Amino acid sequence: MADESMVRTLDAQARAIWPQEIPLLRRYALPAEPRILDAGCGTGEGSSRLADLFPKASVLGVDIIDKHLELARSRYANFGPRLKFEHQSIFELTCPDKTFDLTVCRHVIHSIPHPDRVIAELVRVTRPGGYLHLIPEDYGMLHFQSGALDPRDFWHEVPAAMSRAMGTDLFMGRNIFGILAAANLEQIALDYIVVDTLRVPRETFAAIIEAWRDGYVNPIGEFTPISRESALEYFNQMIANIRDPRGYAVWMVPVASARIGSERRK
Ligand SMILES: C[S@@+](CC[C@H](N)C(=O)[O-])C[C@H]1O[C@@H](n2cnc3c(N)ncnc32)[C@H](O)[C@@H]1O
Repeated sequence: MADESMVRTLDAQARAIWPQEIPLLRRYALPAEPRILDAGCGTGEGSSRLADLFPKASVLGVDIIDKHLELARSRYANFGPRLKFEHQSIFELTCPDKTFDLTVCRHVIHSIPHPDRVIAELVRVTRPGGYLHLIPEDYGMLHFQSGALDPRDFWHEVPAAMSRAMGTDLFMGRNIFGILAAANLEQIALDYIVVDTLRVPRETFAAIIEAWRDGYVNPIGEFTPISRESALEYFNQMIANIRDPRGYAVWMVPVASARIGSERRK
């Protein structure tokens, strides 16, 4: 996963999403010098933007891919000691209970098995009155126009088959509410960032789908009823749809948030 297309994916996704994510992050009542965890930080796209948005914050990014962590450390050394990157699994964080004021987990929860265990771990390390801020992707929330191919067929087949093959839930956006509700959290909210051809530059949106194409056509060919060649054709048509000045396409990106109750029962 630490491949070149993943690095491009994370870069393009952050450029598309962050401008709409800022007001969602500003809603939280954080202390003047918040402690922030970026769980599954990847190459540090989110961690560095969090450190920038909250200039007095200490931000810890954790991940299990050392190449991502090395890239993050070298890219964002300018923040100094208030932005750190460590090798830790989000299933078993080394941080004590109630450490963070804000725990962020972007683009991860849909790609791991047992998301409820990770949510429990994120809750554990967040202090009472602190917040969870999650981007749980949902691959039923992408819409493209039909051309020679109908992308609805692709999005109907591929995420369901990949979820089965990987033991993950690529429809997590609609399922996260139940997990947060079962964890007894307060102020649970679902908001949507709209990555579409009106709000996001077409080239940025196209760069996301190009990076997905380059990273995913092989596994799609291997694990789904759609061949590698067919997946390539679908992706190329979707990219052309985005680049067409008269075309419209949209990716609805869920943002789930919740507050840890101050009188939380164990
Ligand atoms: C799609 S990337 C998202 C990166 C980053 N959050 C962002 O928004 O750019 C998913 C990241 O989750 C990380 N990840 C997956 N399982 C993990 C685990 N058990 N512990 C820590 N990180 C994990 C992967 O290594 C990868 O870097």
